[in-house]
Amino acid sequence: MKFEDIPRIPLTSLPTSFYGMPNLSKELGDVDLYIKRDDVMELAHGGNKTRKLEYVFADAFAKGADCVITMGGIQSNHVRQTVSAAAKLGMDSNVILNNPVPEMKNELLGSGNYLLDVIMGANVYLIDGDDNASIAKMLQVEAKLKAAGKTPYIVPMGASDGIGSLGYMLAAQELIGQWSNMNINPSHIFLGTGSCGTHAGLLLGLRYFGNTTTKVVGVSVSQPEEKKKQILRDVIDLVKDVIELDEGLINEDDLIINGDHFGKAYAYPTFEANAAVKLVAEKEGILLDPVYTGKAMAGMIEMIKSEKLENPKDIVFLHTGGAPALHPYAGQFL
Ligand SMILES: Cc1ncc(COP(=O)(O)O)c(C=O)c1O
Repeated sequence: MKFEDIPRIPLTSLPTSFYGMPNLSKELGDVDLYIKRDDVMELAHGGNKTRKLEYVFADAFAKGADCVITMGGIQSNHVRQTVSAAAKLGMDSNVILNNPVPEMKNELLGSGNYLLDVIMGANVYLIDGDDNASIAKMLQVEAKLKAAGKTPYIVPMGASDGIGSLGYMLAAQELIGQWSNMNINPSHIFLGTGSCGTHAGLLLGLRYFGNTTTKVVGVSVSQPEEKKKQILRDVIDLVKDVIELDEGLINEDDLIINGDHFGKAYAYPTFEANAAVKLVAEKEGILLDPVYTGKAMAGMIEMIKSEKLENPKDIVFLHTGGAPALHPYAGQFL
C-alpha cells in the first residue's frame, strides 16, 4: 500500500506550531534554534503518541476492535494518550503499568500520568516486574477480554510498530511545509528516542517527501547507542512491511543516535536533563520533562556546545510532550 492510502482518524488539529527560540539561541551562541510543538495538542496534554494513535486507532477500527490494551511505565505518556484517544473514540482502555523507578513509587502513583489515566477511566493493572512481565500480563488481559466476548486491540509499547510510526511520516511532511514557508532548511532535528517509532517515522518521512539533507538526531532515553540503533533499524523494517518505500530511501549514515544522556537508566533523572528543563523554562517559557525531552535537550545542548555537529545551521528541537511528569519529579526542582 502507499502511505497516502493508509487510513487515519484525526485526533487533534494539525499542524502543530513551529517557531524560533531566540533567547535559547542567544544563550547557546552562534546558532538559530527552532522548536516543533508536538506537546501542544487537544487530547489530555498531547505529545508524540497522538500522531501515532491516529493511524493505530484507524487500524483498530478496521479490525473490528471494541477496546484497547496497552502497556508502559507508571509515568507513561504513551499510555495517557492512548487512554485519552480511547475515551474520545468511545472505547474502553486496559493498561498494564510497571514501575521503572521503584524509589519514586509514591510520587508516581500520586500525580502525573497515572493520575490522568485513572481520571480518564482506564482499567489499570499495576504490576511488579519489567516489560516482559507487562507483555505477559497484556496477553492474559487479552484472553480474559476475548472470553468475555470483547474484541481487544493491542497497542504495542510506544505505538512504535509499522502503523504507528506513520504518524511521524505525516509530521515530516508538515515540517517540510513549515520550513519552506519560513524559507529555512534545517541542518539537524533533535528528538528523544525510546521505542524509536517517532525517530523512524520522522526520518523516513523527511526522505520520502523529498528532504535529503536534514539530519535526524535521536538522543536515547534508555539504552546505549548501538542497542538503540538496532531498535531503530527494526522499526524502519516494520514500516517497510506496511507501505511501499524505495530501497535505498535511507542509508546507514542516516541513523544517528546519541547514547550518552540517559543516565543511570530509563526514567531516572540526570543533572544535565534537569538543568536543560530549567534553562528552556526560564529562557523560552516552555516546559520540558525529566524523562524524555529534558534528556533530549541536554544532548542537543552538549552537541552544540562541544561543536560536534557538522555544518550546523537552523537546528530544530522536536518537543514530543511529557510535561505531566514534572509533577512526580517535583523534588528535582524544589
Ligand atoms: C515525551 C516523549 N518523548 C519521546 C518519546 C519517545 O518516542 P518513541 O517511543 O517513539 O521513541 C516518548 C515515548 O514515550 C515520550 O513520551
